[in-house]
Amino acid sequence: MFMFSVPRVAAIASTVLSLGRLVHSTPTNANRFDGLDNTARDILSRATPAAPHWVIYSDAYVSGTTGPPAVSAVTGFNTLHVIISCGSPSLTLHSNLAFLLVEGAWDKAEEWTTLTAAQRSSIKTQYNNAGIKLLVSAFGSTDVPTSSGYNATALATTMANWVIEYDLDGIDVDYEDFNAFDAGNGSAENWLIAFTKQLRVLLPVGQYIVTHAPVAPWFSPNIWGGGGYLRVHESVGSLIDWYNIQFYNQGTSEYTTCANLLTTSSTTWPGSAVFQIAASGVPLSKIVIGKPATSGDASSGYMSSSTLATCVSQAKSQGWNGGAMVWEYPGATSSWIETVRGSAFP
Ligand SMILES: *[C@@H]1O[C@H](CO)[C@@H](O)[C@H](O)[C@H]1NC(C)=O
Ligand SMILES: *[C@@H]1O[C@H](CO)[C@@H](O)[C@H](O)[C@H]1NC(C)=O
Repeated sequence: MFMFSVPRVAAIASTVLSLGRLVHSTPTNANRFDGLDNTARDILSRATPAAPHWVIYSDAYVSGTTGPPAVSAVTGFNTLHVIISCGSPSLTLHSNLAFLLVEGAWDKAEEWTTLTAAQRSSIKTQYNNAGIKLLVSAFGSTDVPTSSGYNATALATTMANWVIEYDLDGIDVDYEDFNAFDAGNGSAENWLIAFTKQLRVLLPVGQYIVTHAPVAPWFSPNIWGGGGYLRVHESVGSLIDWYNIQFYNQGTSEYTTCANLLTTSSTTWPGSAVFQIAASGVPLSKIVIGKPATSGDASSGYMSSSTLATCVSQAKSQGWNGGAMVWEYPGATSSWIETVRGSAFP
């Protein structure tokens, strides 16, 4: 996700909008799960939220906090249409896959595994009650699974089982194997397609959330010999709930104004602004605009939260409703997302 980060992957959480609507429209129906068995409740509580998605990653070590941030740090506004996400657990590859479940989780994901089942359950309940989903994010900036020769199907099985074992709502595929993409022969795209298909065998659509977190230039048409993310989307887009697109770390002046973020990207990465990606076939509801929380959270692409709010408002007026993602807590907290949503998504 970020070039200077340590082995990582973050987790995201986001609210269940569909459930939120239900609650919102039938406020007296507090016991709407009555009569359902535990399996049905579990599936309902995992239902994939509709856009907009407000996503935050949490990977950094925060003194005194083991696992996810306190819910209070990432909520702060109680409208049930809010999808704040917030991250926590991270999961990354380990050279010894046999020990992936034991040694393959790093940072916040590793912390998650050190909690007792009762502690995890308590935290998860607090997040559920706040309408915030908890996801793990795989790979990040230090793993290059295709170049390293990992079997996509086998690895997806391992990681999906980890999600199930540790009771998370899903997984974010933060694939950053740039050499594999640059090779231009389809190895990256084929790997991602196989990985995504296998994730969905164990984490079915609608029951678990599966997102991807590509860098924006990977959506440029006609640059990637293997077809880039447009090919991934064409092949398995129906299995991907949304894209946390990294509009940062791509060059000093890339994606830094509403114009080159939303309408027309630079000639270096043509066709990779929000509405250009949509014109290439990706639904606007799946395009989540990712930004660093502070100028120090990325090498480039930073926008103040108030400038981003202007772009969000403009995009909404043109029919976009994907949402926003931020890297990462604690550089951003509730106040960041409150500003970014602004009056467009109160
Ligand atoms: C990848 O793993 C799957 C499932 O474990 C297996 O069926 C397949 O043969 C493997 N592919 C390769 C190229 O080793
Ligand atoms: C794609 O290119 C990479 C880097 O040159 C190479 O390692 C890999 O074997 C190639 N894959 C295919 C399917 O040609």
